[in-house]
Amino acid sequence: MPWGSALRATSDPGGRVLGVGIATLDVINEVASYPAEDDEVRALAQRRVRGGNVTNSLSVLSQLGHACRWVGMLGDDAAADLILQDLGCHRIDTREAVRVPGGATPTSYVTLNRSNGSRTIIHFRDLPELDASAFDRVSLTDVVWVHFEGRNPPETHRMIQRVRAEVPHVPVSVELEKRRDGIDALMVGPRVLLASRAFALASGFDQPASFLEDLAQHTSAELCVVAWGAHGASYMRRGGAVRQVPGFAPDKVIDTLGAGDVFNAGVIHGLLSGLSPAEAVAVAVKLAGETCGLMGLRLPTGWVAPDPEPLEPPSESSSGAPKS
Ligand code: FRU
Repeated sequence: MPWGSALRATSDPGGRVLGVGIATLDVINEVASYPAEDDEVRALAQRRVRGGNVTNSLSVLSQLGHACRWVGMLGDDAAADLILQDLGCHRIDTREAVRVPGGATPTSYVTLNRSNGSRTIIHFRDLPELDASAFDRVSLTDVVWVHFEGRNPPETHRMIQRVRAEVPHVPVSVELEKRRDGIDALMVGPRVLLASRAFALASGFDQPASFLEDLAQHTSAELCVVAWGAHGASYMRRGGAVRQVPGFAPDKVIDTLGAGDVFNAGVIHGLLSGLSPAEAVAVAVKLAGETCGLMGLRLPTGWVAPDPEPLEPPSESSSGAPKS
C-alpha cells in the first residue's frame, strides 16, 4: 500500500491525524548559560506554555495543514485550561480528551540555555495514564493516521491492537523516546517506529546503523527511523539497508525543546503527503533543524509544505516503491 493512500478528500475534515500521548505545562526559564549545581542564577525570561511530545507533534502537523485530534489525560486545574486553549488555537480537536476530576496537570520545569539552545527538563507528573478502555471509546472514523507515544506499554499495546483490528489500512506510528519496562510490546503492530538517540543509547547502541539493524529484528514495522540530533537521522525500510540523512543546522541553535517532536511530525507529514521514506525523513530533518533556530515550535517563515492532501492518491508504482 502506498504511504499516502489513506488520504481521502472529505467535506468534514474532523481530526484525521489522531495523536495519543501527553500534554504538559512547560515552565521555561531562559538562562545565559547552564548553572552549576547549588548555584543561584536569575532567569533572563520565563514563559509558561503547553508542551508534551504528542501534542507538540500535533501542533506542528496542524501548522502543516493536517486536521488533528488529541486524546490523552487532562488535569482539572488552570494549567489544563491553558493546554486546551493552546490546542484550540492550533485547531486541534480535544473533545475526546479525558479530564480527571481533581487531577493536576503534569508539569515540566525547563532550563533553556541561551548560549547553545540546550534544554534540561525536570518533569513532574501525578496524573493517571490513558488506559485502553478509555481509548476504546475514541472514534476511529475518518482517521488517516494514528501516532502513539511509547508510554504505558501494556495499555498502549492494546490500543494499537484495536486500531489494527478496526482500521487495518490506517498507518500507526509509535514514538520510542525512553526505554520503559515492556516497551518491546509496542514494536509489533505499528507501521512506523520513530526512535530517539536516547532510546538507542539506552538500548546499548551508540551508532544508528547497529541500533536500526537490531530494532528490525524485533519489529514488524515497515519503516524504522532514529533521529540523531545535529547528525541528522537514519532509517531502514523492512528488508532494506540503513540509510542516513545528514543533519541540517540553522544559523544559530536557539531552542532545542521539542526538536524530536517536530522531527516525528515531519516524518508523518511527509509519508501522509505521499513522499517516499527517504524524502519524508529528509523533510523531517530539515524541519527539526530549522525550528531549532527559532524560539518555540513555530514553523520557519516561508516554509513551503508539500500539499498534504493530493487530489489523486499516489499510485502504487510512484509512491509505493522505494526511491532510494
Ligand atoms: C519536549 C517535551 C516537553 C515536555 C517534555 C515531556 O519533547 O514534550 O514539551 O515537557 O518533553 O517529557
